[in-house]
Amino acid sequence: MSDNIESHLSENRVFKPSKEFSKNARIKSMAQYKRMHKESIEKPGVFWAREAKELTWQKKWTKPLDWKAPYAKWFVGGKLNVCENCVDRHLTNGRANKAAIIWEGEPGESRNLTYRQLHREVCQFANVLLAQGIKSKDRVLIYMPMVPEAVIAMLACARIGAVHSVVFGGFSAESIVDRLSDCKAKAVVTADGGYRRGGVVPLKANVDEALKKYKAVDTVIVHQRIGDKIPMKRGRDVYWHDEAAKVSAKHEAKAFDSEHPLFILYTSGSTGKPKGILHTSGGYLTSTYSTCKYIFDMQDDDVYWCTADVGWVTGHSYITYGPLANGVTQVMYEGAPNHPDFGRFWDIVEKYSVTIFYTAPTAIRAFIKAGDQFPDSRDLSSLRLLGTVGEPINPEAWMWYHEKIGGGRCPIVDTWWQTETGAIMISPLPGCTPTKPGTATLPFFGVDAAILDETGEECGPNEGGKLVIRKPWPSMLRSIYGDKKRYRDTYWNDYTGMYTAGDGARTDKQGNFWIVGRLDDVLNVSGHRLGTAEVESALVEHKAVAESAVVGRPHEIKGQGVVAFVTVKGNVKTSDALAKELRNHVGKVIGAIAKPDEIHFTPSLPKTRSGKIMRRLLKELVATGGISGNITTLEDYSVIADLQKNLKK
Ligand code: WT7
Repeated sequence: MSDNIESHLSENRVFKPSKEFSKNARIKSMAQYKRMHKESIEKPGVFWAREAKELTWQKKWTKPLDWKAPYAKWFVGGKLNVCENCVDRHLTNGRANKAAIIWEGEPGESRNLTYRQLHREVCQFANVLLAQGIKSKDRVLIYMPMVPEAVIAMLACARIGAVHSVVFGGFSAESIVDRLSDCKAKAVVTADGGYRRGGVVPLKANVDEALKKYKAVDTVIVHQRIGDKIPMKRGRDVYWHDEAAKVSAKHEAKAFDSEHPLFILYTSGSTGKPKGILHTSGGYLTSTYSTCKYIFDMQDDDVYWCTADVGWVTGHSYITYGPLANGVTQVMYEGAPNHPDFGRFWDIVEKYSVTIFYTAPTAIRAFIKAGDQFPDSRDLSSLRLLGTVGEPINPEAWMWYHEKIGGGRCPIVDTWWQTETGAIMISPLPGCTPTKPGTATLPFFGVDAAILDETGEECGPNEGGKLVIRKPWPSMLRSIYGDKKRYRDTYWNDYTGMYTAGDGARTDKQGNFWIVGRLDDVLNVSGHRLGTAEVESALVEHKAVAESAVVGRPHEIKGQGVVAFVTVKGNVKTSDALAKELRNHVGKVIGAIAKPDEIHFTPSLPKTRSGKIMRRLLKELVATGGISGNITTLEDYSVIADLQKNLKK
């Protein structure tokens, strides 16, 4: 169908889990998976109620699901406290003195928090939030480095029913302004800084800049990570440790409705400003708990490490909520994978005997490039299971991961999901699913995934189409915060009653799902979603720019790189200095990940007769250097010839 769905090369290598792994895994055979999957699709209420019952509910639900497309309510009438489930629950089930978080700072220090200590810290911070006047459903923006306090702040919000919105520490002050004003946050939790690649990220300074534009924040709570003297605004800014010293470390977790909002997380779409994806409590916790249990096969003696940042959904579901609900021990690392060199991750695996390791294809490609000497010189024999997320993994990277990191013995779970889905949707189960490099394989329990063509017919094997989910699932997004219309238009408009993911995909003869990539104007840069429209609007904000078009180009490490075509205003002179200025401008408006790798100045952009920029042509041009597709709708052919010349320079 659509010309942007490219077909994959056929991949015939199949890897089955060892007998040893299967024997100890939760799901041991394909027969068991198929039986449970069938039940989960035919009787979702029965399946999910059984999963949810493993959690602590202060009041049991009356109905597992209420579905009026596109709105789902899970565990209707049930009441629970998400934080209690991640923390308090483990004080009475034998895990009180078990390490919850083993943290390593980039400079090298480490800290160990047991579940009992985590409980104390979370209760204390919940009391700090209450003392600052934060109430149930108030929005709290969290802008933190990768330190335990980030997780503590999230859990403390959940504990008192406040809604957190975590903003990735790499985003700029202006990104904070957009998110603050969209969710109308009352308070900000941040740090004086965080260590990254040997330097200090000035988090509090960015918050100060953002709050010059958004003034409705009453309180800024600052965790002291660095210890340098920084400006503190009287009456607004307080130090975490000062306030903690004033309150009790006891706090009783009250129950909230299963559909109580838990968090808003912003993600890029094809048009306009980032969307505030809204997740709620009972269903979200059930899915994240259950996926950790079955897909990461979490066992009591595991040491689990997810290398994502808490600012992304992976950090929400697979650092904070899922792993802690399972009572596992996890490693958390503050800094960059290449600091002081590319051996850092493997040092950490060796030092803490990590058993389950979850990272992104872009990181794997960077490690491959850095050289085998780094993993080769470390003892990685503690690892038993590996995972990836964020983008399709290229088979070469999969094989390297399998051999060099997994020593050929660890199953790899390639997990497909999205900020919107809340939890993993398509993935192997490590004890049973035969894996092939490059496919996320089969739908998880309760996930009714399919690939449809434009008419709504299901595609046959090896036919490209749109990935949809045909039934509601517990951790699905409930809306786009404050914009129900955009929610319906974005996700529920293609086929009646079905969720469209925005990804192109195909299945093979065995029913494995091969995700090809986004179908909309969304880039995947180092596993992060970036709307081309966002980067374009940042460029056009600059006084020199009249118009711009942004496309992705395949990039060896990042998956996709950002390429910007820019038309400048009347009498502006183009220069390398201007290109540099524009790159920095985008970095300032969005964050460093959005900086274009290339900027091409052009007197005009290829457009249709009705004036729409033909990004498809630009994309092809940067990828191949030429145009082979249909250009009959192009208004002015000479534009392409000029661009082609320009790119060759
Ligand atoms: C988009 C979602 C979910 C956490 C990280 C990204 C792509 C994600 C895979 C995978 C192929 C993948 C998709 C998806 N994606 N995982 N295993 N194989 N593609 O979350 O920022 O919401 O991005 O990432 O295109 O739609 P996100």
